[in-house]
Amino acid sequence: MEKKNIDWSNLGFGYVQTDKRYVSNFKNGSWDEGVLTEDANVVLSECAGVLQYAQTVFEGLKAYTTEDGRIVTFRPDLNADRMMDSAARLEMPVFPKERFIDAVTQVVAANAAYVPPYGSGATLYLRPYMFGTNPVIGVKPADEYQFRIFCTPVGPYFKGGVKPLTLRICDFDRAAPNGTGHIKAGLNYAMSLHAIVDAHHQGYDENMYLDSKTRTKVEETGGANFLFVTKDNKVVTPKSPTILPSITRRSLLHVAKEYLGLEVEEREVYVEELKDFAECGLCGTAAVISPVGKIVDHGKEICLPSGMTEMGPTTKKLYDTLTGIQMGRIPAPEGWIHVIK
Ligand SMILES: Cc1ncc(COP(=O)(O)O)c(C=O)c1O
Repeated sequence: MEKKNIDWSNLGFGYVQTDKRYVSNFKNGSWDEGVLTEDANVVLSECAGVLQYAQTVFEGLKAYTTEDGRIVTFRPDLNADRMMDSAARLEMPVFPKERFIDAVTQVVAANAAYVPPYGSGATLYLRPYMFGTNPVIGVKPADEYQFRIFCTPVGPYFKGGVKPLTLRICDFDRAAPNGTGHIKAGLNYAMSLHAIVDAHHQGYDENMYLDSKTRTKVEETGGANFLFVTKDNKVVTPKSPTILPSITRRSLLHVAKEYLGLEVEEREVYVEELKDFAECGLCGTAAVISPVGKIVDHGKEICLPSGMTEMGPTTKKLYDTLTGIQMGRIPAPEGWIHVIK
C-alpha cells in the first residue's frame, strides 16, 4: 500500500480529511448495516436533537504501525464499552461492541495509506461519535441517531522533546456529583472551554479540577487522568466516580503492577498531599503520559522533584513500557493489540 505523501513528523494535532469514514443510522428502533462513505459532510435538520440539547457522545483512539509493520489499534473493545456507557447515560441507543470494533477495523483498513510509518511518532487518530438527528423541540431524547467514525493523521505529541507542564488548581468545576463526569459526552467539554482558555491566558498549560462537592480532592484535567508517584515509588491514581475512566490509566496501572513490579493504589488523592509526591503525569490516548513539573494552588507553587526538564524516572519507565507494548517491542497482555492488517 502506497502511503500518502505527508511529512509525518511535522504533522500537528489538527483535522486532515482522509478518504473514507463509516456511517450507520438508527431509525425505528434499530441500526442499519452501516457503510463506508467518501462524503465528509453531515447534513442535519435545523432542529436536530444534537443541535438543541447537545445529545452527543464520542470516543478517541489511535491506529499505528508496529515495529514489524502491522497496522493495529490499542484496546478498542474498551472504547466500545465506554461509548456504550456514555450513550446509555444520555438516553441514546448503544452501538453494539462487535460492530464498533468492526467499524474501527473498516475505517483504518480503508485509510491505510494515512497510517503513519513506524518510528515517525505520528499516528492515525480515530474519532467515533454519535448524535441525535431528528427534530426535537420539547426537552426529550431524539428517536433517530447517527454513528460515525472518521480518522485523521496526527503528529508526534512531544515534538521538540518532552516538556513538563505547569498546572493550576482550577476554581471552575468539571463534573457534579451524580452528574456526567464519568462519560465522554460533548457537554463535558463545552463547559471546560472557558476554563482552559482562561488557564492559557494566565500562562498555565492545563487545569487541575477538584471534586466539586468538597474541593479537597484531585479529579483530573479537561482531557486526561492523573498518575502520581510517591517518594517510596508507589504509583497512585485518583479514584472518583466523576472522572472519565481513562483506558491509558487503566493500562498503565497494569503495567506498573505486572511489568514493573510496583505497588499501585487507586484511591482518593487530597490536594494536601500534592507537595509530598515525587512525580506527576497526565495520562490519556494523546500523549500516553505527559509529565507535570509544577502545580500552582492560588499563587502557591508546588514543584515536583522531577523538575521542569524531563520525565521522572518511574514515569519514564511506565511510558517506555506501555509505548513498547503498543509498538510491538514488548509482548502485550492478551487482547490488548487489535491487528487490522
Ligand atoms: C476528560 C478525560 N479524561 C481522561 C482521558 C484519557 O482517557 P483515555 O486514556 O481513554 O484516552 C480523556 C481522553 O479521552 C478525557 O477526555
